[in-house]
Amino acid sequence: MKAGAGLFSALALFLLMEAVFTQRPRPRKPTRRPATVKKPSVPRPAVPIQPEPQEPTDFPPPILGPPSVFHDCPRECLCTPDYPNSLNCENRNIRAVPVIPFRTHYLYLQNNYISEVTAEPFVNATEVRWVNLANNRIHRIDNQVFEKIPALLYLYAHRNQLKEVPSGLPASLEQLRLSRNHISKIPAGAFKNMGNLTLLDLYHNQLSDSDLARGTFKDLKNLVQLNLAHNTLKKMPDGVPSGLIQLFLDRNRIDDIPKDYFKDFTHLAFVRLNYNQLSDKGVPKAVFNISTLLDLQLSHNQLTSVPLFSSHLEHLHLNHNDINSINGTLICPYSLQALGDLSDFSLGPRLRYLRLDGNHLNPPIPLDVILCFRHLRSIVF
Ligand SMILES: *[C@@H]1O[C@H](CO)[C@@H](O)[C@H](O)[C@H]1NC(C)=O
Ligand SMILES: *[C@@H]1O[C@H](CO)[C@@H](O)[C@H](O)[C@H]1NC(C)=O
Ligand SMILES: *[C@@H]1O[C@H](CO)[C@@H](O)[C@H](O)[C@H]1NC(C)=O
Ligand SMILES: *[C@@H]1O[C@H](CO)[C@@H](O)[C@H](O)[C@H]1NC(C)=O
Repeated sequence: MKAGAGLFSALALFLLMEAVFTQRPRPRKPTRRPATVKKPSVPRPAVPIQPEPQEPTDFPPPILGPPSVFHDCPRECLCTPDYPNSLNCENRNIRAVPVIPFRTHYLYLQNNYISEVTAEPFVNATEVRWVNLANNRIHRIDNQVFEKIPALLYLYAHRNQLKEVPSGLPASLEQLRLSRNHISKIPAGAFKNMGNLTLLDLYHNQLSDSDLARGTFKDLKNLVQLNLAHNTLKKMPDGVPSGLIQLFLDRNRIDDIPKDYFKDFTHLAFVRLNYNQLSDKGVPKAVFNISTLLDLQLSHNQLTSVPLFSSHLEHLHLNHNDINSINGTLICPYSLQALGDLSDFSLGPRLRYLRLDGNHLNPPIPLDVILCFRHLRSIVF
């Protein structure tokens, strides 16, 4: 009787889902502001596009800040009495780091033309907690700059021209953002003793397998987020800290995952491997059967079948692969019989979102998929 009722509600859901399975992913949010309505009668003057200055002689002149009550406030910066610990020097066309006053805890230097970071301006800056150097022209950070800042927690240096991970970073660091540089080298010991680092972002650099030696991440015992997407890796990185929650490896050239790769992870919840070269051959049968995993993204690969996953998985992205059939009985984490006998369906598979568009699949969705994954809210075919 119970099984009959279960089947009935599953069928009702099936009808409900017919309405959603044709749903396409929503268009991405426009990254630019939508154009305002133009009146065709008033032609707008063509605004010449300012080219990004290349040569230092092309850089616009530094913008000076307003006079400050602080006698130690650098001329290019803004120092406000309400925030005596902040030094705001962002967006000022400056070419060099000004002398940082001792009172500074929060240092904002993003969006300038700084090309080098040397130790001198930081001599008295021993209390700094946050440094934002994003979007400059930095190609070198001296080793001694940050090692004498024992309180440093966040270092943001994304969008620069660094060729290697800076050395001599303090053990206190919690967040290190180095995305969108030209990094092709991680010096030995770069992350030594950095047991408090929770976020390491190396997205969009030039790292290859040989740049990630086995012990590279060894000391990062508290790392939670590791982003190595958009590099040139062919293998899964070795020695990744096992407490990680997010591992992003999109846009590499990975074609193979070792069978036990995820075995030792204790909290791994988000894995992204979109835009790699994974085929069924390189994906061992149960490699993604990880009980902590909530979100698995494998779009734009060459998979021909749906990999197995645990009953806890909530989001699965498999769009733009070569999948031509899907067998719900095979991928269901439980036997359909056992599911039919479950009195409380919240104990069943938790998959809520499934993307399968860009494969070789045709509707309808197989009934065994519907019967197994009754929490599915959205399936994109
Ligand atoms: C550092 O602080 C000392 C004492 O406050 C001061 O005499 C010195 O000029 C400062 N050095 C720099 C580079 O600001
Ligand atoms: C790491 O964090 C803990 C807890 O916040 C803190 O007590 C410790 O001093 C930090 N370690 C370093 C090297 O800053
Ligand atoms: C997946 O993992 C669960 C629990 O760890 C285990 O019981 C199950 O047999 C595994 N499934 C496969 C296909 O390996
Ligand atoms: C799905 O897989 C099961 C178990 O391997 C098999 O018995 C069944 O025939 C398959 N269904 C289809 C439609 O291929």
